[in-house]
Amino acid sequence: MNIIIKNNAFEINEYAASMVAAYVHNNPQRVLVFPTGNTPLGLYKNLNGLVARKELSFSSSYLLELDEYLGIAAHDQRNLFQWLKRSFIDQVDFPEDHLYRFQADAADIDTETRRIEQVIKKHNGIGLLVLGIGPNGHLGFNEPGSPFDSRTRVIDLTRASLESSANYWGDISVVPTQGLTLGMQTLSEAQQTIMIVTGKHKADILYQMIKGEVTPDLPASFLRTMKNVTILADKDAVSML
Ligand code: GLP
Repeated sequence: MNIIIKNNAFEINEYAASMVAAYVHNNPQRVLVFPTGNTPLGLYKNLNGLVARKELSFSSSYLLELDEYLGIAAHDQRNLFQWLKRSFIDQVDFPEDHLYRFQADAADIDTETRRIEQVIKKHNGIGLLVLGIGPNGHLGFNEPGSPFDSRTRVIDLTRASLESSANYWGDISVVPTQGLTLGMQTLSEAQQTIMIVTGKHKADILYQMIKGEVTPDLPASFLRTMKNVTILADKDAVSML
């Protein structure tokens, strides 16, 4: 695991965008997994700019969403694919049929999670995986306790995740209580992984992830066992290390 430290989030976002662009340049036809949350918004701004200036194109790439709220229809404001669309997808040039989303309101959710695994298999695995980290160390919606051999599935969200999601939607009462997520094993098979961690509020969890034990109780610690992982962190995020 490689850790790259920059002065601030601005520099991290620029650097992350250059890493994504280099990956896409060298591997134009692979599946790219992108997260939601506040952390990657700066990265998306930079990627949108690169595409607008024709310095980058996703026209041969595929996008797969990392996680989604269970039962939340495509048109719902809280739908996480909508979040990705608003901040990123609508500004760049993925072909429409290269976009893979969870159908979170599918009648048969087990068939839906299997379909996502088949999509990944059909494309020879995840190419580039971009991650944030949840306040309790979750990856996507792999909450503490997620087995390292888990695959794409439904998961009950923890109180900590509901509270942090409440910041996005105004009130905890409107945060869905279950999610769909690519599994730990599914994520570990990515060819390359970038995790972005910025801000003082992430310093404690980053410290635990790097210095603590590798345990399902802190899903992000699993990154220490994976190949080709880069952590991009700003000075605030590494302030406890
Ligand atoms: C959310 C998402 C994760 C995200 C994390 C961090 O709940 N499920 O994919 O990486 O929490 O969010 P933020 O970047 O807003 O801190």
